[in-house]
Amino acid sequence: MASNPLDNKSAAWSALFSEPVSELVQRYTGSVGFDKRLWKADIAGSLAHAEMLAAQGIIPADDQRAIERGLAQIGAEIEAGTFDWKLELEDVHLNIEARLTQLVGDAGKRLHTGRSRNDQVATDVRLWLRDELDVIAELLAQLQRALIDLAARHTETILPGFTHLQVAQPVSFAHHLLAYVEMFARDAERIADVRRRTNRLPLGAAALAGTSYALDRERVARTLGMVDADGRACVCQNSIDAVSDRDFAIEFCAAASLAMIHVSRLSEELVLWMSQSFGFIELADRFCTGSSIMPQKKNPDVPELARGKTGRVAGHLMGLLMLMKGQPLAYNKDNQEDKEPLFDSVDTLEDTLRIFCEMVAGIAVKPEAMEQAARKGYATATDLADYLVRKGLPFRDAHEAVAHAVKAAIAQGKDLSELTLAELQRLHPAITDDIFGILTLQGSLAARDLVGGTAPAQVRLQIARHRARLGAG
Ligand code: ARG
Repeated sequence: MASNPLDNKSAAWSALFSEPVSELVQRYTGSVGFDKRLWKADIAGSLAHAEMLAAQGIIPADDQRAIERGLAQIGAEIEAGTFDWKLELEDVHLNIEARLTQLVGDAGKRLHTGRSRNDQVATDVRLWLRDELDVIAELLAQLQRALIDLAARHTETILPGFTHLQVAQPVSFAHHLLAYVEMFARDAERIADVRRRTNRLPLGAAALAGTSYALDRERVARTLGMVDADGRACVCQNSIDAVSDRDFAIEFCAAASLAMIHVSRLSEELVLWMSQSFGFIELADRFCTGSSIMPQKKNPDVPELARGKTGRVAGHLMGLLMLMKGQPLAYNKDNQEDKEPLFDSVDTLEDTLRIFCEMVAGIAVKPEAMEQAARKGYATATDLADYLVRKGLPFRDAHEAVAHAVKAAIAQGKDLSELTLAELQRLHPAITDDIFGILTLQGSLAARDLVGGTAPAQVRLQIARHRARLGAG
């Protein structure tokens, strides 16, 4: 078999080098420990490249067939766990190429024609991320469906709506949940947007300047599914930019950070709602843990950890921004550091979304506790003010009058709805006994019957809209 220059890469890169890299440098510069995760994308990119090289008459058809055969075997070896990853071969790309040449000889050595690891790695990361973005989009849709299903059962369930964590106005539990659906819908839009800019082909940029071979870049793009909504091939249009920027990964980490921030807010509310002080919900036991010392404890570990992991993903965003800051064009080895934060952001977001889909579906709601809490904070004071406005008072005067009513009610330890008609009429003579329908929590909800409001009729419309938008899962 032909000699394989990659076999003795540990000795020297090429004839130019007179000594091998030290073991420490090998460990320091090697990335195979983590970038082997890109193997499927690496093989897909190589297959598309080889197919195009043969179609363009740059390599013989026999070589293309040998490359396909060799890469198929390598894929099988990796999947079976028998592939021998070598640190001295630095990264996933050189490991696969060396094994290919071992398997198919000179054909393997021809694969790298018109290609550099610089455009190769940029392509691999984009292909890998694109597929993960599809997984994340589906998980975001599932989480929205889980929230909507729970909301559909609680359009009439009263929840105290808070501002400053103080009872403000009653809302329905469904309305509150649908606020998160809006957030996760925007997260899904951002992921779709990132996908458009990720799904573009760097191959053909070679090291940085393009290549002198007559490559058909659009053919490779089409083979790899790098096409726009109209089926047109998406090819990076500047070779220097193609190998050097990782803005698509940074954008993803920004979108992932926002999605995690939304998860963290929901997490915080689940933790509060589950505490004895609120007692609004129960999480299923499989999402909680006990205490090693306090036998009475059931701790909401999953939402707490999700809240904590949000910091980790936001940290990766900062890491990638700093990685790119000030790098001169074009490729620099710095970029090898993009992978671990990117991989960990994807893993963390996917795991979090997956577990939240299940956890949300298993939430047990305690409507009486929610309604009880809503009664405590004079949550219908705004409704009384609005009523006085309809009777002709300017809003600011009504606001002041109701403040007096709340003060009187607090002094008597009563809710506004428990004041007598005579007491209320002292506020304003125009008040009649239709006021009592208005001061109920249900009346307060029903009154907010405009787009985006908490009236059950409006919330049911929103649920229908979201369901039509998301389709069946
Ligand atoms: N392992 C490298 C990376 O992840 C591959 C590209 C290396 N290119 C180079 N010229 N050293 O970025």
